[in-house]
Amino acid sequence: MKRLISTLLCAALIIAASGCSQDISVNASTTTTAASTTTTAAKTEGTTAANESTTAAAETSTEAVAESSESKLLVAYFTPSENSEADAISPASQTVYDGETIGSAAAIARMIAKRTGADMFSIQTVKDYPVVYDDLADFALDEQNRGELPELATHTDISVYDTIFVVYPVWWYTMPQAIYSFFDEYDFVGKNIIPVTTHAGSRLADSLARIGELEPDATITSSFTISAMNAETGESEVTSWLAEIGY
Ligand SMILES: Cc1cc2nc3c(=O)[nH]c(=O)nc-3n(C[C@H](O)[C@H](O)[C@H](O)COP(=O)(O)O)c2cc1C
Repeated sequence: MKRLISTLLCAALIIAASGCSQDISVNASTTTTAASTTTTAAKTEGTTAANESTTAAAETSTEAVAESSESKLLVAYFTPSENSEADAISPASQTVYDGETIGSAAAIARMIAKRTGADMFSIQTVKDYPVVYDDLADFALDEQNRGELPELATHTDISVYDTIFVVYPVWWYTMPQAIYSFFDEYDFVGKNIIPVTTHAGSRLADSLARIGELEPDATITSSFTISAMNAETGESEVTSWLAEIGY
C-alpha cells in the first residue's frame, strides 16, 4: 500500500513540478490582535514514519490589499496526530515546533497564529484515525470513497470571525474528509477563507475548486502550501507569505 502511495505521490510530484499551480487573486486581507486560543488539547503527539519524497518549497498565490485592522482571525486546522488514539505515536506527526513534536499542519497553524494573533481551533473527529501510516492511508481512502463526513468532536463559533485560515494535509489528492465536515457544519457566507495545505507533492491539490463549490458565498482571498518535509524549517516562508498579504 505504501508503495502505491509512493507511486501516486510521485505522480503528483511530477504534475506539481510541471507547473500545475493554482493561482487565485487576493482582494482582501486584514490584521488583528487577539491571541487567545480555543485549541482543544491534542489527543496525541508523536513521531514516526516519513512521508514520501517531496519537492519543495512553499507555493504562494497572493497579492495583498490590506483593508482593515478590525478583522478577527481564526486558524482552524486538522492534523491526524490530534485525531488518533490517546498516547499513540502518529505516523504523520513529525514536525518539531517550539520543542514539541506535532503534526505538520498543526505546526503551520501555530506559525500563522503566532504571526497574526489569530485564535486557534483544532478540528477533531469523534472517531480515531489509525496510527500506522499504511492503515491510515487505507482508512482515509475508504472514507473518501464512501463520501463519509466524519462527525466532529470539537466545535467553535465562526460567526465572530471575518477571515478563517483552514490548514490541513492533502489526503489522496484532496482535503481530508474532516475538512469537508468542517465546511458542512458552518456558515461561511461572507467570510474570507484562506486554505493552507501541507503535502508530499500535490501542493494545494483540488482545494480551491472544492472549497469554491462548497462555499460559493465566501471568498478565497489567498492560499499557501508547503511540503510537509519543509514544515519544521518553514516559519520564515510562512511569515514572508503572511507579510505579502498584509499580516
Ligand atoms: C492518508 C494519506 C493520504 C495522503 N495523500 C497525499 C496526496 O494525495 N498528496 C500529497 O501530496 N500528500 C499526501 N499525503 C501526505 C500528507 O499530505 C502529509 O503526510 C501531511 O501533509 C503531513 O502533515 P500532518 O503531519 O499534519 O499529517 C498523504 C498522507 C496520508 C496519511
